[in-house]
Amino acid sequence: MRVVLVGFGNLGRGLSRAFIQKASFLHRSYGLIPRVVAAVDEFGAVVDEKGLDLARLLEAAEKKGTVAAAKGGKRGKLAIKVIEDVEADVVYELTPTNIKTGEPGLTHIKRAMRAGKHVITSNKGPLVVAFRELDSLAKRCGVEFRYSASVGGAVPVIELARKLLAGNEIREIRGVLNGTTNYILTRMTTEGAPFEIVLREAQELGIAEKDPTLDLEGIDTACKLVILADSLLGMNAKLGDVRRTGITRIGPEAIRLAQEAGQTIKLVGIARRGSLEVGPKLVPLGHPLAVGGTLNAVTFELDLAREISIAGFGAGPKETSSSLLGDLIDIHRTLGG
Ligand code: HSE
Repeated sequence: MRVVLVGFGNLGRGLSRAFIQKASFLHRSYGLIPRVVAAVDEFGAVVDEKGLDLARLLEAAEKKGTVAAAKGGKRGKLAIKVIEDVEADVVYELTPTNIKTGEPGLTHIKRAMRAGKHVITSNKGPLVVAFRELDSLAKRCGVEFRYSASVGGAVPVIELARKLLAGNEIREIRGVLNGTTNYILTRMTTEGAPFEIVLREAQELGIAEKDPTLDLEGIDTACKLVILADSLLGMNAKLGDVRRTGITRIGPEAIRLAQEAGQTIKLVGIARRGSLEVGPKLVPLGHPLAVGGTLNAVTFELDLAREISIAGFGAGPKETSSSLLGDLIDIHRTLGG
């Protein structure tokens, strides 16, 4: 499968490492040979129809800060040109999230679909701004569209609900969907560590958003909730539809009182048809949502299965590559590979 990588930050690099590490496994298990024919970032691009040497690409990008530094690379070459002109089967849209406009990811995805290319993305921005439009554009263009990595990082929240729980009506989705706030609340609980210090640690772990207020004020959780509501509950929600409170007012006293009552405080997103909410909630210790550290967890309330919960690593390049790779394998299978 010929693949174009648009965006070569943490996730693009993590995925490239996974392609290298998993090459023979993918071939042996699925008959899948991903061939990265182009990589683009904000500074330029490199194209090779025979397939780029990913180890060299990673080395060049890490040393010089752009894929354009790789052999044959060109500075100033635009993503749109590559997406439209390079012959490929799948475009990975892995540029940073912009929750206001969805750009540049939104345009990248639309152009890729219109050019007849399947799209896989981790980018929350385009999904939050224009989920329905993209979903129907994919259908009109006859291309596959996957976004497993946009919610839950490595945790297959969307695919679990879509595939394995397909016979159920989803009545409610509750989730700890933000690793940064979960890390902060956990450290405040277990060690009584001060807010500012733990926030800095979360930033050093590389899981916090560039602007950490997106994490702290529950905006990142709200974005993920909108994606779940639109993709799994058939809603057409926007960020403004989410009632939202962050964790900035949670102090040591509230945490202590919760602990004394056998509970823990988590930033929880709750989606029901017609109602979306994010806020700090008391969760009983031992409940599947009472996960610690940077973990994410989701509980589905269902008509047949009653409750199903899933937990795991919600951020990080290696962890997220699990979902990005899973989407490619899924498209390969869907197309009969
Ligand atoms: N800032 C996000 C988090 C990254 O902390 O979960 C993953 O979307």
